[in-house]
This record gives sequence, structure tokens and C-alpha cells, in this order.
Amino acid sequence: TALIFFMIVLAYLGGSISSAVLISRLYGLPDPRSHGSGNPGATNVLRTGHRSAAVWVLLLDMMKGTLPVYMAWYLNIGPLYLAFIGMAACLGHMFPLFFHFKGGKAVATALGTMLPLGMDMAALMVLTWLICLGLFGYSSLASLLTALVAPLYVYFIKPEYTLSVALLSCLIILRHHANITRLYHKQETPIIDRSKRED
Ligand code: G3P
Repeated sequence: TALIFFMIVLAYLGGSISSAVLISRLYGLPDPRSHGSGNPGATNVLRTGHRSAAVWVLLLDMMKGTLPVYMAWYLNIGPLYLAFIGMAACLGHMFPLFFHFKGGKAVATALGTMLPLGMDMAALMVLTWLICLGLFGYSSLASLLTALVAPLYVYFIKPEYTLSVALLSCLIILRHHANITRLYHKQETPIIDRSKRED
């Protein structure tokens, strides 16, 4: 149990490291918390037009979920505690200790936690996200729809994680409240700023 507690704390602390803020600083880009949607995530870093910075943020945020869950899985920690550890990483991203508890939406980190549990599940989620993005053009809507169907996928592939993934989906959807309002009022910015393409 001491090991599990240590892993949960470690996952939370790792999740608290905001890749979006750090990578933006490194690249000399505007702080994602005071630019675009104000969200410290890959989508909002992409809004600066800097694709490689956004890809780095995506990969690092995913790793914050993958690493602790993979470590726990390797240490033979069971599904319930594995879920706690994954959840702790996502909560770290959402409410980071190092950034005044003002974090992101944990879409990438949540996906990262799925990788050690099943590539098929993670691949299905990525595919769903990409199809939704292709259909609608909004990163937030793609994340919301993927979060909605994720528990269903998990139910069929890894049923022991259904409850924890459903809980995580609820959290992710709640974190998108501002996006939901913007989508409803047709004020959400698409992932690719089409106005920039014209010049
Ligand atoms: O992963 C976050 C995405 O779903 C929404 O990001 O910047 O449009 O609020 P953003």
C-alpha cells in the first residue's frame, strides 16, 4: 500500500507539470493560459500556428499518463489501483500543484493512461477523435464525443475499467464546460484557424 500511495502521489506530481506552458516558454510562444481558449493543452498551442510545439505538448501530456500507469502495471498493481494512479495523473493535469491548480482538460493525459491497458482501446479512441475532428473540425467536440463513447469501448474491451473510465469521461466533459457553451453559441474556434490560410 505504501508503494501504491507513492505511485499515486508521483502520478499527480507528474501530471502537474504543464507541458503546454513549458514548451511554449521554450519555443518563445505566448503563454497558452492567456492566449486563444486559455487552455494549457496541445490544441491551444496549435492555435499559435506552431505545429511541432503542439506535437511535443501532445506527446509529453500523453506520457504523463502513460508512464505512471505503465510503471504500476509493470509492478503488478491491480486494476482498481491502476485506475487510481491514472486518475491521479489526469487530476494533476487538471489541477496542477505547480501552476496554481489551474490546468487543462486532460484529454491527452487520459489517452496516455489507456496505452498500457490496451493498444486496441487507445487506437479506437484516437480513431473516434480523428473521425469527429474530420466531420466537425472542432478539437473540443471531438474530445467530448470521444469521452462520451470511451466507457462503451472499455466496457467491451476491458470491462474492469468501465467505472473508472466513465468517471474520467465525466471529469473531462465537465472541464469542457466553456467549450460546450461556445459550441452551443457557434463561437468555438476550429482547430485550424481558417482565416490565417487566406493570406
Ligand atoms: O483537449 C482540449 C480540447 O478538447 C479543447 O481545447 O483549447 O479548444 O479548449 P481548447
